[in-house]
Amino acid sequence: MMLVLGIESSCDETAAALVTADRTILAQRIASQDEAHRPYGGVVPEIAARAHAERIAPLIAATLADAGLALGDVDAIAATAGPGLIGGVMVGLVTAKALAMAGDKPLLAVNHLEGHALSPRLADPALEFPYLLLLASGGHCQLLLVEGVGRYRRLGTTIDDALGEAFDKTAKVLGLGYPGGPAVERLAATGDARKVPLPRPLLGTPEPHFSFAGLKSAVLRAREAGGHDPADIAAAFQQAAIDCVIDRTRLALALAGPVGALVVAGGVAANLAIRAALEALAAGHGLRFVAPPPALCTDNAAMIAWAGLERMAAEGGAGAGDPLDFAARPRWPLDPAAEPVRGAGVKA
Ligand code: KG4
Ligand code: ZN
Repeated sequence: MMLVLGIESSCDETAAALVTADRTILAQRIASQDEAHRPYGGVVPEIAARAHAERIAPLIAATLADAGLALGDVDAIAATAGPGLIGGVMVGLVTAKALAMAGDKPLLAVNHLEGHALSPRLADPALEFPYLLLLASGGHCQLLLVEGVGRYRRLGTTIDDALGEAFDKTAKVLGLGYPGGPAVERLAATGDARKVPLPRPLLGTPEPHFSFAGLKSAVLRAREAGGHDPADIAAAFQQAAIDCVIDRTRLALALAGPVGALVVAGGVAANLAIRAALEALAAGHGLRFVAPPPALCTDNAAMIAWAGLERMAAEGGAGAGDPLDFAARPRWPLDPAAEPVRGAGVKA
């Protein structure tokens, strides 16, 4: 039974996990840096890189100890090699290279987005290719046709902000602190979305792209105008986001051709209101709906180990390793053939 050590350090979570080919997570640890970044209302790359460097070695040792295993028991080391904050990515990747060299194990340089994209298959053994994936995190918002391991067709992406970013900025405007997504979701549950009119950018347009910059600005204007209950603003923001997500995903389903399931992954997939809306959309199309448990949606190392296992299975066992000089990548699209999208402030 193949056993892979996964390492994740591309944003503000330092994480390690031990996962077997039969989808058992033998151990996993996640050290969040929320406290370190909270005073700044967002992730500060230099603080993140330093925190990863301080924590990663003891975290890996503790994860192995949790499982009662040693490095020698592991068949391969998988680490996020991009995309992400480059300082943090380098810390995890260099650590993985050192372990691979010391233990004479294959190194698997994993695309963080592929980790998110395949995480639903770690959670659900019955999920088969192809599936339509909404990948929504702090840095990305994409609709992807997942045809197989390493085979992704991007149908839509954001032309400005990522959806998680919009949640985080809404939280900041409402004084909810960082990280914003869960706080906005909690407050939204107590508000009335109909009390604050907000725009639905790109709704009804012929390509399944997203835009959240205008929605974010509208939230700021509603806040500054005064007179609104913050809970109503949070609810209105979340409902506008859901309306955009559902409209764009419906279009992507029409464009994708036959798929077996509608799937959501990435940090925003932890949002229960968004999950419920997507589940209803899937049901309307007679499709299965698959969402990993919330702890597998936000950044974690089990999904990185799993992406490594998927690659080993697809590429023929432990021979699937990458060279030890594999360079960390700040940008690494899942579908390199996808055209850049039109739009003023393209970030993702
Ligand atoms: O995948 P992830 O952990 O890190 C990235 O790769 O970006 O996603 C983090 C993002 C943050 O923007 C966070 O606010 C958002 O996911 N998020 C949520 C929720 N939980 C996390 N957004 C909405 N509702 C949530 N419950
Ligand atoms: Zn992520």
